[in-house]
Amino acid sequence: MGPFHLLFLVILSWVLFLPSTHELQTSQRQVLLQLRKHLEFPSALGVMENFNGDLCYLSSSAQMSISCQDNLITGLKIMGDKLFNVSEFNGFAIPNKTLSESFSTDSFVTTLSRLPSLRVLSLVSLGIWGPLPDKIHRLSSLEVLDLSSNFIFGSIPPKISTMVKLHTLSLEANYFNETVPDWLDSLSNLTVLCLKNNRFKGQFPSSICRIKTLTSIALSHNELSGKLPDMSTLTSLHVLDLRENHLDSELPVMPKGLVTALLSKNSFSGKIPAQFSDLSQLQHLDLAFNNLSGTPPSNLFSLPKISYLNLASNMLSGAFPADLNCGGKLGFVDISKNKLIGDLPSCLGSNSDERVVEFTGNCLADDSQHQHELSYCKQALSRRKQSRVRETVVLVAIVIGAVLVLVLFVFGVLSLYRRYRSRTSEHNIFAKAVPDNSPNGFCSELVTNARFISQAAKLETHGAPVCQLFSLEELKEATNNFDFSMFLGEGSLGKLYKGKLENGTSVAIRPLAISKKCSTQNLKVRLDSLSKLHHPHLVGLLGHCIDSGGHEDSGGNRVFLIYEYISCGNYRTYLSENYPEKVLKWADRLAILIGVAKAVHFLHTGVIPGSFNNRLKTNNILLDEHRIPKLSDYGMSIITEEIEKLEAKGEGPKSCRKKDLEGDVYNFGFILLESLVGPIVSGKGDMFLLSEMASFGSQDGRRRIVDPIVLTTCSQESLSIVVSITKKCISPEVSSRPSFEDVLWNLQYAAQVQATADADQKSDATS
Ligand SMILES: *[C@@H]1O[C@H](CO)[C@@H](O)[C@H](O)[C@H]1NC(C)=O
Ligand SMILES: *[C@@H]1O[C@H](CO)[C@@H](O)[C@H](O)[C@H]1NC(C)=O
Ligand SMILES: *[C@@H]1O[C@H](CO)[C@@H](O)[C@H](O)[C@H]1NC(C)=O
Ligand SMILES: *[C@@H]1O[C@H](CO)[C@@H](O)[C@H](O)[C@H]1NC(C)=O
Ligand SMILES: *[C@@H]1O[C@H](CO)[C@@H](O)[C@H](O)[C@H]1NC(C)=O
Repeated sequence: MGPFHLLFLVILSWVLFLPSTHELQTSQRQVLLQLRKHLEFPSALGVMENFNGDLCYLSSSAQMSISCQDNLITGLKIMGDKLFNVSEFNGFAIPNKTLSESFSTDSFVTTLSRLPSLRVLSLVSLGIWGPLPDKIHRLSSLEVLDLSSNFIFGSIPPKISTMVKLHTLSLEANYFNETVPDWLDSLSNLTVLCLKNNRFKGQFPSSICRIKTLTSIALSHNELSGKLPDMSTLTSLHVLDLRENHLDSELPVMPKGLVTALLSKNSFSGKIPAQFSDLSQLQHLDLAFNNLSGTPPSNLFSLPKISYLNLASNMLSGAFPADLNCGGKLGFVDISKNKLIGDLPSCLGSNSDERVVEFTGNCLADDSQHQHELSYCKQALSRRKQSRVRETVVLVAIVIGAVLVLVLFVFGVLSLYRRYRSRTSEHNIFAKAVPDNSPNGFCSELVTNARFISQAAKLETHGAPVCQLFSLEELKEATNNFDFSMFLGEGSLGKLYKGKLENGTSVAIRPLAISKKCSTQNLKVRLDSLSKLHHPHLVGLLGHCIDSGGHEDSGGNRVFLIYEYISCGNYRTYLSENYPEKVLKWADRLAILIGVAKAVHFLHTGVIPGSFNNRLKTNNILLDEHRIPKLSDYGMSIITEEIEKLEAKGEGPKSCRKKDLEGDVYNFGFILLESLVGPIVSGKGDMFLLSEMASFGSQDGRRRIVDPIVLTTCSQESLSIVVSITKKCISPEVSSRPSFEDVLWNLQYAAQVQATADADQKSDATS
């Protein structure tokens, strides 16, 4: 055996037995197995049973995901089936099955604390019962703690105040029954605080108002009482949900950026502050079922973004000015069951098709049948006059009463007709006015929602955000109504736009036309499964929006896919442009190719059935700021499959899949080729192949066609490995094309050879 052979063997064994960087430490594996036992073997962890491999590679699902970094578990999400019945209790979640008597939160958390690298922990609906022990603070790296829908009671342990990295704390739907602690401001990075559906008592601690990072506070369905402090310091706050408590102060000043304020079913009193008219971002305001008095500020109705305004069942009085304006987005107004008098302003008139207006149970002049009777209204009406001439109250009331009777009589029939019209349009408009993410089920969304969770957490959670629904309105807003300035490009699938969500997250939005024959239900299921694919080298699908055009029987559907935005352009431009900052050396190219090959290999393992034809091309490989490649437009076949099935009922599914599999290998061969020689003008591909492939055989030929950047940065051996696998991939003989596993292995081998050559060169240079 010559020295060369020996070297080769050394390299080969190094390549083959190189320890995987993700190999989970045995001790961490043990902890996971113990947790599973503590939780009495929930079905969500059934996948662990016959899995002997590295648990970091267990494929994520909605029920379970594990993420790792440097051999340590950094993310753990388990969603159990100790189900709660959402519909049973007025729409709020009640868990209804606990773990057995022998379960102990103390020993469970002791075991848990042996995963000190955890940054994301989500244990939902697992039947965990008992008090939350103080030692939870040992998980000092935690950024997300979500223990929703369990049976945890008692208080929030004080030591949580030391977990300063927390930015999401959700204890929704448990049985916490002490006060909300006043030390939460120790968590100076907290953005989401969700304690709804518990039995928290006492006051709303004013210390919460010092947490400037908070974007969402949800404390609804508790037993909080007393005063709500000045909230204006919470400059980042978007969502405030305090429904169904016993808060009984006047309404405080609210922060300027507030989008959603849900304060119904408390005992708030006094006037609606004029300051509410300055909340230019406000979209949903629910003040129903309180004890608010005075005349509502007219400007509330004309706020630029307001879409849902509910003031029902208060003590509001006085008359609206006749020229009251309604904002263009106002779709639902409820002012019923108050003591309002005078005429209904025209923009609230029931003959408007634009909005649903509820106004029964007042003393308004417009509507006879659904207003209070005269005796009740006399009081309301007289109060209006008090400030003028006290003595004429009775007289004026009688006069107005008489006029009322007349008006009621004349408009009786007409108003009946109007009621009918407003009712028939109610359903649609309401759906438009109240978005999917509105009132119920806020918290679970806050926690899983891509729009609210911070970027860091999103990367960490790995298996996280459940596919999200976006409204067309939201997308239009994010893209400036699909303005040309947001246009990113156009490919075979259609246009791509950049968008900016309300919370500042950048996204890429792809509208697709979908045949009307395609069932929306099927499409949803497919999109949901696509959004569950998580891989470091796949561009994540964050959500979708299906627009059926509003007309059930005409035209086609449009579906909008919302992807994470990858900032640094596509691989093809890197290959074609010679800007110094975009130069990709051979080793860089290999690293990118390996990333992509891993992603495709992952898709081919069948995590989602049918994700085989992945439209591989250099345009679809996006690079982030660290030049990590991310494949986009993968898995489109599972969306378009249905259409194709309708169009061509020729080939059986099996032969289709085989063809697609080979399609991916062939297309990847083209990507390899472009990595070697630079971008190939489309359409020219096959001709190029015939005439030039042979050139790779000789040194001269290579010098002529291989990209000079590659030639000057590669070792000949590494280049030869890739040339050879490229030829196999694009071989006209389908049967001689390699498997993706083969491709990946060869690329990793070429990278190792290159790394060795680079290291040798470096040591030559220094010695
Ligand atoms: C939830 O409760 C409703 C009303 O009681 C009932 O109809 C429904 O079947 C329940 N669902 C489950 C999953 O138990
Ligand atoms: C718990 O939920 C199950 C269905 O999941 C239902 O049959 C049962 O009645 C519920 N029990 C309680 C106490 O709500
Ligand atoms: C909280 O609930 C637990 C368990 O039901 C009970 O033992 C405890 O006394 C309650 N605490 C308060 C302050 O109500
Ligand atoms: C809080 O967040 C900022 C910015 O994300 C970060 O730099 C800082 O380290 C965080 N603080 C803690 C205590 O984690
Ligand atoms: C509502 O407010 C009025 C004073 O504005 C007060 O007299 C009344 O007791 C309050 N009602 C409730 C239920 O708090």
